Amino acid sequence: MSETLSVTDYLKNQSELDTLRFITCGSVDDGKSTLIGRMLYEAQALFDDQVVALQSDSKKHGTQGEDIDFALLVDGLAAEREQGITIDVAYRFFTTDKRRFIVADTPGHSQYTRNMATGASTASLAIILVDARQGILEQTRRHSHICHLMGIRQIILAVNKMDLIDYDRDVFNTIVEDYAEFSKKLNFADVTPIPISALKGDHINSRSKMMAWYNGPTLISKLEAVPNQILPEASGFAMPVQLVNRPHSDFRGYNGVILRKAVSVGERVRVAPSGAMTSVKHIWLAGTKLEQAEPGLAVTLELTDNVDISRGEVIASHLQPVEVADQFEVDLVWMGEEHGIAGRGYQLKMAGQIVSASLLSIKYKRDINTGNDLAAKTLELNDIARVTVNCQKPICFDAYEKTPECGAFILIDPITNQTVAAGMIHFALRRSGNIHHQKLNVDKAARRSLNGHTSKVFWFTGLSGSGKSTIADAFASALHAKGIRTYLLDGDNIRHGLNKDLGFSDADRVENIRRVAEMAKLMVDAGLVVLTAFISPFRSERDMARQLFDDSEFVEVFVDTPLELCEQRDAKGLYKKARAGDIPNFTGIGSPYEAPETAEITLQPSQDMDDMIAKLSSYLAE
Ligand code: ADX
Repeated sequence: MSETLSVTDYLKNQSELDTLRFITCGSVDDGKSTLIGRMLYEAQALFDDQVVALQSDSKKHGTQGEDIDFALLVDGLAAEREQGITIDVAYRFFTTDKRRFIVADTPGHSQYTRNMATGASTASLAIILVDARQGILEQTRRHSHICHLMGIRQIILAVNKMDLIDYDRDVFNTIVEDYAEFSKKLNFADVTPIPISALKGDHINSRSKMMAWYNGPTLISKLEAVPNQILPEASGFAMPVQLVNRPHSDFRGYNGVILRKAVSVGERVRVAPSGAMTSVKHIWLAGTKLEQAEPGLAVTLELTDNVDISRGEVIASHLQPVEVADQFEVDLVWMGEEHGIAGRGYQLKMAGQIVSASLLSIKYKRDINTGNDLAAKTLELNDIARVTVNCQKPICFDAYEKTPECGAFILIDPITNQTVAAGMIHFALRRSGNIHHQKLNVDKAARRSLNGHTSKVFWFTGLSGSGKSTIADAFASALHAKGIRTYLLDGDNIRHGLNKDLGFSDADRVENIRRVAEMAKLMVDAGLVVLTAFISPFRSERDMARQLFDDSEFVEVFVDTPLELCEQRDAKGLYKKARAGDIPNFTGIGSPYEAPETAEITLQPSQDMDDMIAKLSSYLAE
């Protein structure tokens, strides 16, 4: 702060400063905490008592001898943070004469990628930290890819710990060349390499006497000079509805955060997905009326007409309404411990909306070392991939490049409730818009009535050799004898025809069950009592199958024969082969079986066949 400025001038100045949001990528080993601590210190964002405490802590616990250990400052804050509810990303603020800064500090443990993606989604620039002794590592490349994916186009390559390599210009130059070679394909708008020592303070806010050979900017001067994020010019506001505010019958307001552009009273709006048109009557902020609300502000909108809008719908300017679709091409950063599989169902959450969604196909995944695209059937932790996603119902969105808040989503595993991926929508696949359901005269009810019985599916699941096919076959015979029309879809049979292109990888089993579930649905629609006998080892796909049917139409039957008994029986000799290592992913041995937790019927091998059939039949009587 300049001493000649008066306090009022200073405050005025400050209020006119723009704010640059940036992110630091790197691990504690690269000196990330030290760098953030050092920047706060140099920008005088610390209180005097914090500095005094830091000096004494550094002497006691520090690893830097007489120097201040800045890492203690940031890591200390991190520890405090972790005592409360877990916050994924901590934001730190500091100001210089020229600009205000918000730096997203993403803690560097196992969930790093997820946290980094969260921090990067609002940042205009990334500092990618490299340890001068190590050079460009795999994680440097990974972080660069994620930054690029999240729309960051300005990079500072901070080559840290220059003091530990005697401020060697050649080492610095080699790292800069390596990074330039790697990042060619990513097409960043600006990559500025800066040799620094966060510990000693070289090139943070002042020029370093130790590196007279360097004539580029210091870290802070570069941060002060870069352009702020340039989003394409929006022609109208958008507001995803977070809450319908209805304190009494005379008032109906919609709460949410204004995105893209400011909204004004009187503006014409279009609501997605309903398409209803109306206008903004009032804008409320904490009990006061505003004429206009800027992007980023959380407000309540009151509309002129009495249209019915619910949570998750989007109110937007009629000049630039948001789009509505149910299939998308997206980029995903996979964060789940469990593999992501084409065909598997997840919950998709975006801007207040939540829908069931599945990965339709994995187009490719990116080899972060070479930048090449690789074919893939599954996604592993930290993978970056181009994927098509199908939602069970249409959602409102904007391309991520246009409005990050309306185009960034997460995928949640519905069974564990864990976030498994962060995604960005590129564009909608319009195919779905041209295909409509055809209404037919002869329907399920008509066929049931002709048959004189209901139709439903009995979904048998259990290990290979558990007795699924045998029991299902006996049940089918008993029903047939009573004049009930049945069909038994059996694993081994279907794998000879419809599914002969599928093997036993996780991805193929998911696809196997998806096809069988769809087939069973058609057959139930055709008026049949369908019995399916597949191992169907994964809970996710059995749930997916269940969701295709009405509640009373789906009966899950767990044939609960223990592995030891199946192995003893070994009717097809497959367990023996599997134990000998000839079938590497045999269910129960090299591949998991997830037993049902809420099956309608559980059958034990000790039970009498007539009892089993009686129990199964009771679900038909209902
Ligand atoms: S599922 O896992 O995709 O549901 P499905 O029921 O279609 O399997 O097929 C299982 C049958 O395929 C088994 O009963 C067994 O005869 C045979 N099979 C061959 N290889 C395997 C394997 N690796 N794991 C399980 N079953 C296998």
